[in-house]
Amino acid sequence: MILKRNTQFNLSNLGEQYGHLFPGSVDIMEFARLLQIYNGAMSEVATKLEILDEEFSLLHKHNPIHYIECRIKGPISTFNKLSRYGLAPTLENIRGSINDIAGIRVVCNFLSDIYEVEDMLLSQNDVVLTKRKDYIANPKENGYRSLHLVVKVPVFLSDSTEMAPVEIQLRTSAMDYWANLEHLLRYKNDGVDVEQFSGLLLQCANSLAGTEEIMEQIFQSISM
Ligand code: GTP
Ligand code: MG
Repeated sequence: MILKRNTQFNLSNLGEQYGHLFPGSVDIMEFARLLQIYNGAMSEVATKLEILDEEFSLLHKHNPIHYIECRIKGPISTFNKLSRYGLAPTLENIRGSINDIAGIRVVCNFLSDIYEVEDMLLSQNDVVLTKRKDYIANPKENGYRSLHLVVKVPVFLSDSTEMAPVEIQLRTSAMDYWANLEHLLRYKNDGVDVEQFSGLLLQCANSLAGTEEIMEQIFQSISM
């Protein structure tokens, strides 16, 4: 199942909605064209994942993917990110430095599903891996776990073929559950001291990881 998260913008009237916020250095039509390509890349990867999930389920009587969530990063967060990186707002910098305009989150049932899905996707010869961070093998200090990939896939247009990046986050339901709470706390800015929860959150992350290991063993013992 692919869930497309609603974006607050529409490519055909990007100028009307965001024109006043666009820096002079970025042409709105060019930006819309770039988003259209990234959106195409996102759909390509989501479809690849869905096909792999269906085939796997037919062969192994088990769906490795619970659900897939897709989203396109909006213009404002894109410009904010460039500014965080100390880069000028230009299309060149967006193309060169922002990998996560097209984002896909793949929520799996079991730990082993994550790596099965990764292997199946990366073995396709039109999928080029450009970045990989395994926060499952090496969790972040705060307890965050997920496998992050950035892949480039071809998008076929009327007169050219463009390779566009898609950031893929693969995680289990338990990792997603944890990350959602941590994200809520991180972006909470109504005076609550969220630091006080960091120890408890790490404890939760470790205990979920332990439980997941046991569930994986049970799953392995019943799967063929
Ligand atoms: P940034 O996108 O600037 O963070 O750089 P990056 O793409 O190199 O970072 P990374 O691959 O570590 O993280 C990419 C995305 O994963 C973030 O934008 C978040 O959506 C998610 N993420 C990473 N770390 C955390 C974390 O500690 N907590 C939560 N909730 N999400 C995280
Ligand atoms: Mg990122």
